[in-house]
Amino acid sequence: MKLTVIGSGYVGLVTGVCLADTGNDVVGLDSDVAKVDALSRGECVIFEPGLGEILRANMKAGRLRFISDKSSAIRQSDVIFIAVGTPPRSDGSPDLTAIHAVGDDIAAHADQPKIVVIKSTVPVGTGDDLQARLDQKSRVKCSVVNNPEFLKEGSAVSDFQKPDRVIIGAEDAEAAAVVAELHEPFIRNQRPVHTMTRAAAEMTKYAANSCLATRISFINQIANMCDALGIDVNDVRRGIGSDSRIGFQFLYPGAGYGGSCFPKDVQGLIHVARKAGVQPDLLESVHQVNFRQRQVLFRKISKRFEGKLKGLSVAIWGVSFKPRTDDIREAPAVVLIEQLLEAGISVRAHDPEALDNLRALFGDRIAYSPSAYPTLDGADALAICTEWNEFRSPDFEEMRKRMRKPIIFDGRNLYSLQTMRKQGFEYYGIGRSAGLA
Ligand SMILES: NC(=O)c1ccc[n+]([C@@H]2O[C@H](COP(=O)([O-])OP(=O)(O)OC[C@H]3O[C@@H](n4cnc5c(N)ncnc54)[C@H](O)[C@@H]3O)[C@@H](O)[C@H]2O)c1
Repeated sequence: MKLTVIGSGYVGLVTGVCLADTGNDVVGLDSDVAKVDALSRGECVIFEPGLGEILRANMKAGRLRFISDKSSAIRQSDVIFIAVGTPPRSDGSPDLTAIHAVGDDIAAHADQPKIVVIKSTVPVGTGDDLQARLDQKSRVKCSVVNNPEFLKEGSAVSDFQKPDRVIIGAEDAEAAAVVAELHEPFIRNQRPVHTMTRAAAEMTKYAANSCLATRISFINQIANMCDALGIDVNDVRRGIGSDSRIGFQFLYPGAGYGGSCFPKDVQGLIHVARKAGVQPDLLESVHQVNFRQRQVLFRKISKRFEGKLKGLSVAIWGVSFKPRTDDIREAPAVVLIEQLLEAGISVRAHDPEALDNLRALFGDRIAYSPSAYPTLDGADALAICTEWNEFRSPDFEEMRKRMRKPIIFDGRNLYSLQTMRKQGFEYYGIGRSAGLA
């Protein structure tokens, strides 16, 4: 099929590349000309394992190209995927400006019937609104379908190629069948395709992310109690996770969830609830718990140093919101760095992939280290914010030698308490540091 994917970010790029890889003819359209130029040179503009290789192979095979000319991108395809951003406004409601702009572009340039697939995460009613807008403005028939994306940054390619399920929200059965056909190569392992209304699909995506965020806030609240009560939350996590009704996924306490999805989508669903006249008490709490949790490392640092923070030097390992991505949007590390700087603490950070994005945000306000150990030179403490594999079994002796004080604030609970004692570190994890709640 001839496809256009509008928006070449984390979702659009993976979508376009994977659909080209199954033999479709794909054009990636983006309003960011520099991004289009880089992609056209075969440069993968984001760090995502495996993506660059498939991108270049499909460009070489002539199935994938990138352009910034809306008119030709829209005219030449049968199916148009929308994967533009839907960032939160200051009140937490999703900003749909890019979705509406793309809708108007499609209406202006479509010269034959189109299937318009919304991949972006959007509030309930957005698909119906876009359908009405296109019915009114377009010269040709456009069928709007909602096909939410569940990929996780860091394993986006394999998530897209082996989805747990495919959700298709459509009022038009023919359009739904075309979208299902596009997914056929990815669901050969009997994964289900759930077809439903557009509104139900929109709600499914918000509900899925909010459910996972709820589990994280839940275990974080339990962890904070464990800190206060002198319990190791890992014992509790193992105790509840091995209950098959509960399981272990998304039950890891930490410095709060971040990224471009969970914080935004929980707030987005809060707005959906309010608009529907439903009081979103649970979701508001999930959001509040997370807001406080992203400050947990700073609170522990402040308490340990009894508020005498000015002039201290703190090393940070890991700044991306999770491992195997360079994405620092809403990352707990960014919140911590802001707080450290405000308190007069100097910061040196290391991340295997996200330093360029961090530099774009903080410039010369902090120092950067391309490798892990030099980050520690002369540091009064180390704060770990992302569980990259390279931090899991470090050379503790080397670390101790480089640091002014052997103190670790571990926002990802990477090390055993026993190892830390044996290695001579003062160690504060999340839900495992009796007395330092
Ligand atoms: N990142 C994820 O892990 C993830 C997972 C599932 C769903 N989503 C959802 O997918 C959507 C996109 O997320 P993302 O992380 O890929 O965003 P992103 O910011 O990485 O990419 C969005 C892209 O759209 C482009 N764009 C914006 N307006 C445009 C316009 N009018 N015309 C053409 N291009 C335009 C931008 O230049 C950018 O390249 C969001 O709604 C997000 O919630 C994201």
